[in-house]
Amino acid sequence: MEVVILGGSRPIGKLAADAIEKLLLRKPDAVLGLATGSSPLPVYEELAGRHAAGLDFSRASGFALDEYVGLPDGHPEQYRNVIRREFTDRINIDPANVHSPDGSAADIPAACDAYEAAIAAAGGVDLQLLGVGTDGHIGFNEPGSSFASRTRIKSLIEQTRKDNARFFTSLADVPHHVITQGLGTIMDARHVILIATGAQKAQAVRDFVEGPVAAICPASVLQFHPHATVLVDEAAASALKLADFYRHTYDNKPSWQGL
Ligand code: F6R
Repeated sequence: MEVVILGGSRPIGKLAADAIEKLLLRKPDAVLGLATGSSPLPVYEELAGRHAAGLDFSRASGFALDEYVGLPDGHPEQYRNVIRREFTDRINIDPANVHSPDGSAADIPAACDAYEAAIAAAGGVDLQLLGVGTDGHIGFNEPGSSFASRTRIKSLIEQTRKDNARFFTSLADVPHHVITQGLGTIMDARHVILIATGAQKAQAVRDFVEGPVAAICPASVLQFHPHATVLVDEAAASALKLADFYRHTYDNKPSWQGL
């Protein structure tokens, strides 16, 4: 796991966008794993700018990490709409190639199986963007999630509903159920880039980067990922024991290595 401590959201967005741009230049039909929430917004902003300057997404495809269950179609907080609004409508990716779990499916288990099959048919995710919840969740794999889990329905912990209430009119409007890629699904991505900013993430970052690998902290499974990059600002890094070592390592990294 590589930990990079940067001065704020802007440099984090640029560095993650550099990795995505490099991937697209090497593999124009790359498969991107897309997170929602606040953490990836600087990356989407940066990529929209790079698209305006010529970066081509026409052969790329995208898979959202998760989706609320039961929000009516067209609801602004349905993650399929958030992804469009914040990212894919701002670039030239083919809308037919942007996929989300179906949170209004009549047969949820079948929809989850179909989502796994669609990711596999696309050749797997090349680069997965992630945020982390204050309780250490990735996707909506709340504490206790199986490390082997695949896409499935999950219940949200009350803290996550409270954290996400800022996007809704009231806490009561935040759904209790979601469909999320499993931890096993996320671990299959060839490269994962997790972004965490702000002091409210410091404990979760400390727990998953330097704590034991345990289901109580789902993001800790990334310690087993062969290519996991963690981009954090100073506030989110503030509880890390080895912060100076991560800074020293990144500052002295050979330039050919990239992320
Ligand atoms: C969103 C997702 C969640 C968020 C996490 C952090 O698709 O899967 O795991 O990444 O809840 O949310 P923010 O970035 O809003 O702090």
